[in-house]
Amino acid sequence: MKALISDIHGNLEALKAVMVDIDAHHVEQIYFLGDVVGYGPEPEECIDIVEKRCCVHLMGNHDYAMLNAPVGFNPIAAGAIECLKARMEPGVYSMPWKHRRWEYLGNLKNRHMENDLLFIHASPRDPISEYILPSDPFYDPEKIDSIFQRVEHVAFVGHTHIPGVFTTEPTFLVVQDIDYTFTLAQEKVVVNIGSVGQPRDMDPRACYVLLDDNQITWRRIEYDIEKTVESIRKVTCLHDRNAERLREGR
Ligand SMILES: [Fe+2]
Repeated sequence: MKALISDIHGNLEALKAVMVDIDAHHVEQIYFLGDVVGYGPEPEECIDIVEKRCCVHLMGNHDYAMLNAPVGFNPIAAGAIECLKARMEPGVYSMPWKHRRWEYLGNLKNRHMENDLLFIHASPRDPISEYILPSDPFYDPEKIDSIFQRVEHVAFVGHTHIPGVFTTEPTFLVVQDIDYTFTLAQEKVVVNIGSVGQPRDMDPRACYVLLDDNQITWRRIEYDIEKTVESIRKVTCLHDRNAERLREGR
């Protein structure tokens, strides 16, 4: 069995709770689909855990923005990148672990392919940045069609922080509550695995996926949100909104 995690965004409490749940299952491999940094207060510790525990490491748009610049980000997201970049970017005399974490970000891959399964952060058309929105099947079916032309069988993504399944119909199946399952068949699908550190589907619990052969299970995990809220408030250059939204799951 594999565990797929994405969009941790420096939320150490959420990541730790997810790892406890992963360890309670028979998980052999953990794949990380991007965005270990951004928004949240403890990206360094999150990098250390992901680097140690995962065997696939993908680049998210926030990881990319940290290394380069937060182009096209809203002011709060861009502010969080600038705030944490000032803390994380190593200089000539920085401690070795600071260099190692920065190199970790720089070594993240754009995509991972395994047989007919594609793993990316965002979209098969643009692996780092394009949002595949739950509304797209209804308002922009051509976009969904174009995306599916680049999917051999299954694409696993994160990025929107909204768990669910896109089908070629086209439609979007919403993940409802803990242990929602979907069985992979012949049909092409794009599977959004949800977000560990900043869920946006109005359910504040951390989200990740267990993949057991053809069976996908979304897990929802309670964690100490108030502890993360406190940690965000201690980092004065992080906007308060980054904390409040965690309580609401949006
Ligand atoms: Fe994200």
